[in-house]
Amino acid sequence: MAIPQHTIDQILDRTDIVDLIGQRVKLKKTGRTYSGCCPFHQEKSPSFHVYRDKQYYHCFGCQANGNAIRFLMDIDSRNFVDVMKDLSSQTGIELPKDNHDNKRLAYKRESAKPVVATPKVETKAQENAPVQADTNNFETDPFEAFQYQEFDPSQFDLAENAEPSFSQEGNLYDLLENVAQFYERQLPNSKSAQKYFKHRGLSQETLQFWRLGYAPEDWQHLEKAFPQDIEGLKLLGLIRSSDSGRDFDLLRDRVIFPIRDAKGRVVGFGGRALNDEIKPKYINSPDSEVFHKNQLLYGLYEGRKQRAQDWLMVEGYMDVIALQQYGIHGAVATLGTASNTEHLNILFKQNSRITIAFDGDAAGQKAAKRTLEIALPLLNDGRELKFFVLPKEHDPDSLIRREGIETFKKLWDQAPLLSDFVFALLSQQFDVTSPEGKSQVMAELNQLTELLPKQGSYRYLLRQFFREKLGFNKKWQAQVSLDASLSFNIRTKDEDFAVAILMNHPFLYIHFENLRAVIPQEELLAQVLNTFDKVFDELPDDQELATYYMLGACSRFHQELSDIMQRTNIQALTQAPEMADKLASEYALALQEKYLKQKLKAPLSLIESRNLRQQLNELTKKIGLRLLHS
Ligand code: UTP
Ligand code: MN
Repeated sequence: MAIPQHTIDQILDRTDIVDLIGQRVKLKKTGRTYSGCCPFHQEKSPSFHVYRDKQYYHCFGCQANGNAIRFLMDIDSRNFVDVMKDLSSQTGIELPKDNHDNKRLAYKRESAKPVVATPKVETKAQENAPVQADTNNFETDPFEAFQYQEFDPSQFDLAENAEPSFSQEGNLYDLLENVAQFYERQLPNSKSAQKYFKHRGLSQETLQFWRLGYAPEDWQHLEKAFPQDIEGLKLLGLIRSSDSGRDFDLLRDRVIFPIRDAKGRVVGFGGRALNDEIKPKYINSPDSEVFHKNQLLYGLYEGRKQRAQDWLMVEGYMDVIALQQYGIHGAVATLGTASNTEHLNILFKQNSRITIAFDGDAAGQKAAKRTLEIALPLLNDGRELKFFVLPKEHDPDSLIRREGIETFKKLWDQAPLLSDFVFALLSQQFDVTSPEGKSQVMAELNQLTELLPKQGSYRYLLRQFFREKLGFNKKWQAQVSLDASLSFNIRTKDEDFAVAILMNHPFLYIHFENLRAVIPQEELLAQVLNTFDKVFDELPDDQELATYYMLGACSRFHQELSDIMQRTNIQALTQAPEMADKLASEYALALQEKYLKQKLKAPLSLIESRNLRQQLNELTKKIGLRLLHS
C-alpha cells in the first residue's frame, strides 16, 4: 500500500519549506525569495534559493532542486517513507498504517460492473473552463510539474504485501467528479436556476469557469442517477438517511458551487437556495475523507490557475465569483467557517502581502479583531497584512455591482495596513486624548504585540508607532524636528537619511550589516555603523530606550547627528513600521551598490575586482527583485 497523493499533498500543505530549510541553512530574505549557501555543494556566495510561494528550492550553482520532501531525502540521504514518517509526526497528518487509507477513499459499489475511470481531473477542468484556455502556460510551469509528478506514490510501499484493488470498488474522488458533472448537466434544464444566476449577473463563461450547476427538486435524484454508488454518496454526506429509513438528497432545488481542492479535484459542494426566504441560505456538504473545510479555500485553485498576484480573503462564494468575473483573480473564501491559522498560512504561501476583507457592520468588526489575533503570530519575514473594511451594508459582490469595479479597486488599494488598522480599532474603544485612555491603549497593544513573533523588529516598531501616535516621545520630537516643514531636502545625502532612520529605529540595523564592509571609514554613517556593530547585542528591548542608548553610544558625533535629525525629519516619514522597514532596506541596498561601484573603479587586485563584480551582480539582482515585488 502506498502513501496516497492526497496525504502527500496535505503534508506538504502543512509544511513550510522556508521554515524547514531555515533550520539547516542560514537563509536571508531577498524580496520574495530566500537565499543562502547551498548545503549540497561547497560555495562561498549564496546561489541557493528558496521560494515560499512555490514551496520549492533551487540552487543555481549545482542545480539541486525540489520540494520539502526532496530536500530532506537528499540532505540526510534518507528514503521517501522515512522522510514522510518524520513529516507526518511534525504535521500531525497520519500516514496509512496498512490498507486503511485507501479503504477510506474506497466504497463498495452495488453491482460488479467495473468502475468507469473518469478522465483526469486536469483535463476535465480544462474542457469545462474555456476561459482558462487562453490563460498562459500554467500547465508547463516547472514548479507545478515538479510538485505533482516527482513522486509516484505507488513506488513507495508501506506494507509488505500490496493488495490489488477490486474492480467493484469506487473511488470517492471519481464519484465527486461524476456528481459535479451531473449537477452541471442539470443547469441547462432548469429555467429557475438559470434565471437565478442571470439575476446575480453571472455570464455563461463564469458559470462554466466555476462549473456551477443545479441540484433538482426531486428528493432522490442522486439515488436515481447513481444507483451503484449509494454507499459512496453517504460517505460524502450527499445522501442522508431519515428517521423513517428513507434516504434523501442533501441538496435539493439549489444552485450548486462545486468546491475544488488545491489540485482542482472536486471535494465537496455548496448549495444556495433560489430565494432568500428559504433557510438555510447555503448548505455545504459535510466534512468527509476528502473534504476538510478548515484546510480549504474556495477559489484558491482557480486563482492560482489564473496566476493571481494579489490575494484577498472575502466571505462568500458569490463574492469570489463576482470578483473573478470582473478580473480580480486572487479572491478566496472560507467554506462557511471562520478563518483560521491554516487558511491564513495557505494565503501567505501565495504572497507575503495579503488582504482580508470584512463587512462594515459590528459583526464584521468583531471578526476582524478575531482574525487579527490569529494573524499576528504569523507576521514574520516581512509579511504584510491589510484590512479592507467594506462600506456598511455591502459585501464585495454588492459593492462592485452598485459602485463598479474601479471603486472597489480604489478602496482595496487604500485599505489600511495592520498598524493603522489596529490603531483605529483601539482608538475607537478608548479615549486616546486622556492619559487613562492612552495607557489602556498601550496595555491592549502590548497584549497584541505579545502575539507577534519574537524575532524581528516588528514588535518594537509597532509599539514605537503607537507611542508616537499617542503623543509620547514629546521631548525627543521637540529636539529633533525643530522645523517640520523642511522635510526632504534635496541637499541631504542618502547617507544622512540612513543615519536618521537608524537613530530612530535602531533595530533596523540588521539591514545595514552588509554595508559596513564597503563604506569608506571617513563617512559618518560608517562610524555610526561601527558603533551599532559594537553595541547592537546590548540594546534594550524597548524601542525608545534603544534610541536613547544609541544616542549615548554615538555621543562623539552628537553635533552632526542632531543636525541630521533636524534636516531629515525622518520621523514623520517612518511612522508606519512597514514604511520604516522598507525605507531602511532600500537605503541599505542603494548605498551598498554605490560603494561597490566606487570600489570597482580602483580595485587593489584582479581577485578583488572579480569579487566585487560578483557582489555587485548579486546586489543588482536583489534590487531588481525588490523592485519587481514592490
Ligand atoms: P452571507 O450570508 O454573507 O451570504 O454568507 P453571501 O455570501 O452574501 O451570499 P449571497 O450573496 O446572499 O448569495 C457568507 C458565506 O457564509 C456561508 C457561505 O459560505 C456563504 O458564502 N453560509 C452562509 C453558510 O454556510 N450557510 C448559510 O446559511 C449562510
Ligand atoms: Mn452577498
